[in-house]
Amino acid sequence: MGQISACIFDLDGVVVDTAKYHYQAWKRLANELGFDFTLDDNERLKGVSRMDSLNILLEIGNQKLDEEQKLAYAEKKNICYLEFVNKMTPEEILPGTIKLFTELKEAGIKIALGSASKNAITILEKINIVNWFDIIIDGTKTQKAKPDPQVFLLGAKGLNATPQECIVFEDAEAGIEAALKAGMRCVGIGSSDNLGNAHMVVSGLNEVTLKKLEFL
Ligand code: BG6
Ligand code: MG
Repeated sequence: MGQISACIFDLDGVVVDTAKYHYQAWKRLANELGFDFTLDDNERLKGVSRMDSLNILLEIGNQKLDEEQKLAYAEKKNICYLEFVNKMTPEEILPGTIKLFTELKEAGIKIALGSASKNAITILEKINIVNWFDIIIDGTKTQKAKPDPQVFLLGAKGLNATPQECIVFEDAEAGIEAALKAGMRCVGIGSSDNLGNAHMVVSGLNEVTLKKLEFL
């Protein structure tokens, strides 16, 4: 329990369900390289940076590529992913998001984005939600990927909040680990099977109220 100055939201899997688009794009690439990529495999890529995701994909397919080829394939996957992103609309904002944002703003609590994605701004613009954020920290502003706490610490610093005053919302194990390393409270979005280290686990933002957060 303690004062809450800021809430830091992951994007993919918390505010929107883009994992399905990442999956389609990685699957297409895997098939092109001659192997299959399942939904189970896709779980391993949640919260993981683009290049790290490619490395995991190649490990699954038992393929070796040099750095230049890797950059080309990562770019190719992203072009495919952006085809899906460009069709996104505000209807894809996950239930409860705007209601929670409204409640937080009314209570004077700042809202931050803490995402690994380099496409974060494009997605936020597509779903028309950019203006809600007091600060946006995404994959273009960080050097160290989750589970490193850098993304969340930069968010807190930019808002003049101490880690103890921040609550992180995350759907990926690596993200929960990053929040804990940052010394922040965190809410897991998904299942306690893999997010059990979070201070609270809910199935979506529609289950979160400020009252519940005050008990963390
Ligand atoms: C994370 C996703 O938010 O962003 C990962 O959970 C993704 O699946 C990562 O690989 C990087 O995204 P992007 O948009 O920069 O390729
Ligand atoms: Mg996520």
